[in-house]
Amino acid sequence: CAVAAVVVGKRVKSRRKWRRVVGVLAELEQGCETTVGRLKQVVDAMAVEMHAGLASEGGSKLKMLLTFVDTLPNGSEKGIYYALHLGGTNFRVLRVQLGGQRSILEPDVERQPIPQHLMTSTSEELFDFIASSLKEFVEKEGDGSDTSLMRRRDLGFTFSFPVKQTSVSTGILIKWTKGFGIEDMVGREVSECLEQAMARKGLNMLVAALVNDTVGTLALGHYHDPDTIAAVIIGTGTNACYLERTDAIIKCQGLLTTSGGMVSFLYVSRQTSSDSLSDELIYFVIYLLTLTYLHLHQVVNMEWGNFWSSHLPRTSYDIELDADSPNPNDQGFEKMISGMYLGDIVRRVILRMSHEADIFGDALPKLSMPFILRTPLMAEMHEDDSPELTEVARILKDTLEIPDVPLKVRKLVVKVCDVVTRRAARLAAAGIVGILKKIGRDGSGGITGGRSRSDIKMKRTVVAIEGGLYTSYTMFREYLHEAMIEILGEEAAQHVILKVTEDGSGVGAALLAATHSSDHVDNVQ
Ligand code: GLC
Repeated sequence: CAVAAVVVGKRVKSRRKWRRVVGVLAELEQGCETTVGRLKQVVDAMAVEMHAGLASEGGSKLKMLLTFVDTLPNGSEKGIYYALHLGGTNFRVLRVQLGGQRSILEPDVERQPIPQHLMTSTSEELFDFIASSLKEFVEKEGDGSDTSLMRRRDLGFTFSFPVKQTSVSTGILIKWTKGFGIEDMVGREVSECLEQAMARKGLNMLVAALVNDTVGTLALGHYHDPDTIAAVIIGTGTNACYLERTDAIIKCQGLLTTSGGMVSFLYVSRQTSSDSLSDELIYFVIYLLTLTYLHLHQVVNMEWGNFWSSHLPRTSYDIELDADSPNPNDQGFEKMISGMYLGDIVRRVILRMSHEADIFGDALPKLSMPFILRTPLMAEMHEDDSPELTEVARILKDTLEIPDVPLKVRKLVVKVCDVVTRRAARLAAAGIVGILKKIGRDGSGGITGGRSRSDIKMKRTVVAIEGGLYTSYTMFREYLHEAMIEILGEEAAQHVILKVTEDGSGVGAALLAATHSSDHVDNVQ
């Protein structure tokens, strides 16, 4: 009888524990809720913030950075171009042969992980490493002649961090994201750092285009399909860029107005050799009208990873992750969406569950280690379709050192992955629709300053996409597509095409180097 009482007592205790764990899950589900209504609020907030970021410097958490890219590749580019891509977990070197007529020969690509210590070392160490890798690559992939190192080549440099561009080939690092933290580099001219390192290694190369990865992706997307008007990256970090009308970039109107005014003034003075104010005014008005009606465009790098809105479904896990991160109060949207963070949100939820009720046993040193559960592993657990969830059991054992997890608990872990990924994918979808709304391509009329957009409402609109989360994580991709349809409606969604551009950020940089190359002499053969 006493034994029976103990058994019953244990069962009651374990049921209570289980209820507490289920409570943690229910709370998570509620906190991560992304109803269509809420997503539409995020869409609106994104469009509003885009306006604010374009209106004035610092007008929004969205930086809306100018890129000086106003011409996208059109397919006629020719020559051999090298490209470098420094961004997330990997570093890539590419050699791209452009044959004109929209033909790109299969590019040679070399990927290598960035040694962890270089992400927080000095700029000189980082750039020396990059230049050495490039040199090795040129020696290996070049045409084999001794001159391949001597020839001057133009280079496309994809640098996937927030940069305040000063021209299409130069710019200053504003801040680091995604775990990089090289203090001496902030505020410095990025291309100069690379060119100095290349010179130290004896490489005769110049940066012809310094671009964000989103911009490279847009360039390649546009090269293949001229209906491409935006690009999104969902990988280690997340970001988007799009083609904006020059007259909508209010914050650079000052600059444009001044230069436009000066051009008009000089022109009028030359023509009339009088300083007639009325002539000057006429030319100035013509200039402004040209700006408005020629529909000049420029690519804007949104840096949407830093987007913030009170409509975002934020949980205590997000708050804790942010506080423990190297960049608190920064990159809020990115921390809910991108590959650098999703695994860690899941880890935090599992840790809370194990604190509420020791479902995994007591000693869990690994589970307390930040970033130990990488997002690719989380995706593997999420997509484990074996009846016994053997992959989940293996990852919990090998990575988190939690052995013998019962099936019931494994299912719970999968559910946690599902909730976290679904929220991320749906928020990314809302971000994309936010851009479409801003430029009047969401089929609703958009925020267009009162002008009707019905004429362009249903134009075919292509968004180029890159990044492992979208390309390699099926559930993520499916949730994103589902949300796009929910927000836009079936009809409008048919006109929006998300197109993967493989190696877009790198190849796109080579294309932009070709478009903006100062002379093509040495790149042609
Ligand atoms: C981070 C960077 C941004 C980049 C994105 C995707 O958000 O700040 O520049 O585009 O990651 O790599």
